[in-house]
Amino acid sequence: MDGSRKRYVDTTNQFLSAGLVIRQKEPKNLESPFDQIDSYLTPSELFYIRSHFPIPALDRVSYQLRIDGAVKRPFALSYDELRSMPSESRVATLECAGNSRVFLVPQVQGAQWELGAVSNAEWTGVPLRALLERAGLAEDACEIVLEGADRGIPKEEPTPPGPISYAWSVPRAKAVQPEVLIAYQMNGRDLPRDHGFPVRAIIPGHYGMASVKWLTSIHAVREPFCGYWNTSDYAYWAWMDGKPVRSALGEMQIKSEIARPRVYETLAPNQIYRVCGAAWAGETDVTQIAVSTDGGRTWAEAGFLDPVRRHAWRRWKFDWLTPKEPGQYTLLARATDAAGVIQPDTHDQNYGTYVINHVLPIEVFVGDPGGPQP
Ligand code: MTE
Repeated sequence: MDGSRKRYVDTTNQFLSAGLVIRQKEPKNLESPFDQIDSYLTPSELFYIRSHFPIPALDRVSYQLRIDGAVKRPFALSYDELRSMPSESRVATLECAGNSRVFLVPQVQGAQWELGAVSNAEWTGVPLRALLERAGLAEDACEIVLEGADRGIPKEEPTPPGPISYAWSVPRAKAVQPEVLIAYQMNGRDLPRDHGFPVRAIIPGHYGMASVKWLTSIHAVREPFCGYWNTSDYAYWAWMDGKPVRSALGEMQIKSEIARPRVYETLAPNQIYRVCGAAWAGETDVTQIAVSTDGGRTWAEAGFLDPVRRHAWRRWKFDWLTPKEPGQYTLLARATDAAGVIQPDTHDQNYGTYVINHVLPIEVFVGDPGGPQP
């Protein structure tokens, strides 16, 4: 009896990865199992994947990265040359701007991401500013256009007349910050193909669309770049003098998500249940998490599991004494940043189908797990 139980335990331990959730098979759009955030760094095989086109065929030997445009000394680098430059490692959370889209009511178009189009990893590479310094960035360059080797016809209307590459422009002020990396490693190993092998950009603090994978070109421009991705797809309505202006998404907005319990999980009554989750922000720090277990009537403070580290998420926990009374309960988690900015209660319509950072309700049942749900 004991022996068979031991064998059973050994077998379950062989499952090292909980796997990803398919939102689209090809190109690959896979969601991280957010309820499994048991480590600060998301293991690379559990990191979400968001790709618009099939993975381009790139190899280390023929790889070239061009740095040109509004620079004094344009140049190209091989993979080995890039790797021989002084490097840095930084932890950064990437969140897809469409993460949590499934929570929008009525339902909107686009991949129905739940909670897991967000992950946290350590990235190693060369600071972009070192490359821009070497190239002699022009005084009047205003943006840096990062272009990947992948190509295809995008889906969001209005669509361009033929195949295009994936390209994103980053404002100069951000591009020259020390945290912006031209990365070749993720969690201490060479980038996996799905995550941009051999080289990608990492723009910490900005939504994931800025972190261009399969990077082959860094092009400085003197006029704002109005490419498809910056203006049509990953854009929102900003207001200037009372008029809506199409603007590119950028900095991540403060957000907290509950990892456990999961939606419609049944919890035992009158027991301590550890509610846990993670929170992140853009160019600021998350300093407080409030949790409500009664749909927002009352709030209590959660404790952090991770220290403050700019651009990286902080996991948090809250020990909930579940009610004696069986029933349905709505859990909420609300983050506050260092400047006192609080996560909003509702989705901002100016962002359309993106920036879903409002407080997300997680409904659970308290009662006998095998019994009828109220
Ligand atoms: N870079 C290229 N070349 N092609 C892409 O489709 N997707 C972007 C960004 N970089 C994309 C890209 C988007 S929308 C996101 S959210 C992140 O990559 C996702 O990075 P990941 O797949 O490593 O999680």
